[in-house]
Amino acid sequence: MDFYDVIKNRRSIRNYKSDPVPQESLQRIAEAVYFAPSACNMKPWKIKIVTDPELRAKIAANYTQAWLAEAPAIAVIMGNNKQCWERFEGDPIVQIDIGIAMEHLVLAATAEGLATCWICAYEIKKMNAVMDIKDPWNVLAISPLGYSDAVPKDIPYKDLNKIFEVI
Ligand SMILES: Cc1cc2nc3c(=O)[nH]c(=O)nc-3n(C[C@H](O)[C@H](O)[C@H](O)COP(=O)(O)O)c2cc1C
Repeated sequence: MDFYDVIKNRRSIRNYKSDPVPQESLQRIAEAVYFAPSACNMKPWKIKIVTDPELRAKIAANYTQAWLAEAPAIAVIMGNNKQCWERFEGDPIVQIDIGIAMEHLVLAATAEGLATCWICAYEIKKMNAVMDIKDPWNVLAISPLGYSDAVPKDIPYKDLNKIFEVI
């Protein structure tokens, strides 16, 4: 798929078929994540693709919407807020770094014909416990990964000229 078609085809999908994600797609998605840039090349994150039904159910139970349990896989990105570059003001850059890595995953998944949906609406401490990880690691985002079982409705986006300007 052409890069710009991938960008335009990506939508947040909230209904999934149960078909598993092919291993070859996972391999190409992993490579796309590998090439993600990060501040000082520290890559302060780890991604786990959870296919185990029990663990998926626990993750889904920690999210407000039942549809998450339908997806055959859930991508979980964990960020390390100590071993990452810090801005001059002292703020850890981890949230930006994980955002880039996760979006590489999301766009690569789209190119594979797979669907995703960024999810951050959960209690981080509870999700850390589910994933059995401890400080300085935190589960900063998750996404279902699988084949779409929905045609997403058109939604309004902000006017391009209000969010992007050449000055
Ligand atoms: C950082 C981030 C967090 C999000 N968290 C959630 C979430 O918890 N649950 C959800 O259903 N969608 C979530 N979304 C998806 C947005 O609602 C969605 O991207 C937006 O409505 C635009 O729709 P589109 O992705 O189909 O273009 C999140 C998106 C981003 C980028």
